[in-house]
Amino acid sequence: MELDRRRFIAGLGGAAAVGLMSHEARADALEGFLNAELSDTASSASGGGFPTAAEVQAQISSRTYRSGIGQMFMPDRGNSTVARLAEMPERPQLLDFFEMRFNRTRNHCLQSATKAVQRGVDEEIVLACLLHDVSQELLRTEHGYWGAQMFEPYVPERTAFAIRYHQPLRFFADDEAGYQYPDLYRRVFGYDYVPAPHIQAAYDFTRKHRWYGAAREVTVSDLYAFDPNAVVSIEPFVDIIGRHFRAPAEGLGFDGSPVAHMWRTINFPDAPL
Ligand SMILES: [Fe+2]
Ligand SMILES: [Fe+2]
Repeated sequence: MELDRRRFIAGLGGAAAVGLMSHEARADALEGFLNAELSDTASSASGGGFPTAAEVQAQISSRTYRSGIGQMFMPDRGNSTVARLAEMPERPQLLDFFEMRFNRTRNHCLQSATKAVQRGVDEEIVLACLLHDVSQELLRTEHGYWGAQMFEPYVPERTAFAIRYHQPLRFFADDEAGYQYPDLYRRVFGYDYVPAPHIQAAYDFTRKHRWYGAAREVTVSDLYAFDPNAVVSIEPFVDIIGRHFRAPAEGLGFDGSPVAHMWRTINFPDAPL
């Protein structure tokens, strides 16, 4: 089948968005696109070129991995094998993880935090934007909840709240806040996808919460954070991290906290058991 390249790229949010997608995300998107094209040809189905939720489900058994797998456990872009990771310091801190382990997610998160600064939000929310997707290194499924849990012992409660609830909020537009439902989700979840009842319930809860604006801001700064030409650095955020992230003296993963194992898993992802 001929690939309509322009339609494919436009459906993913343009060349800029595609440029920042991981290898496997692009492969998934391409697979989804081709499947949708195929079904369009076969049935002239409506849906603007996006697959149905059922078609997305049907792709599962054609994969060699599950979509929820953490990004750091997949081969690097363009490679068929994973790379050997540099050894981390004995007492690793957040900046070490950004430099040595958050390889797939840091660019997007840095862009998101930069956007948040430009929008003039306070530092607790900037920190939430900076951290909002890095848990996808560990697991993509439920990444807001995994991320909030992993950061909760170290960040302000409102920051953890914003990280956790940006996940359900992504599925619900808020015109007033400047958040539209992204086409990427029509592609990834299916155009007729309906969020599960627990996601709807989490949205209802967040909508009424006094910190709704904090979680919503993460989704707003998220949408604009896929520019492949953006020059980003952790440098502008070092002081914010210093002010709001309680660094454990023993290092992340070695402080005996209930989430230490999550940090150790990211530190040592090649440990077999
Ligand atoms: Fe996210
Ligand atoms: Fe994001």
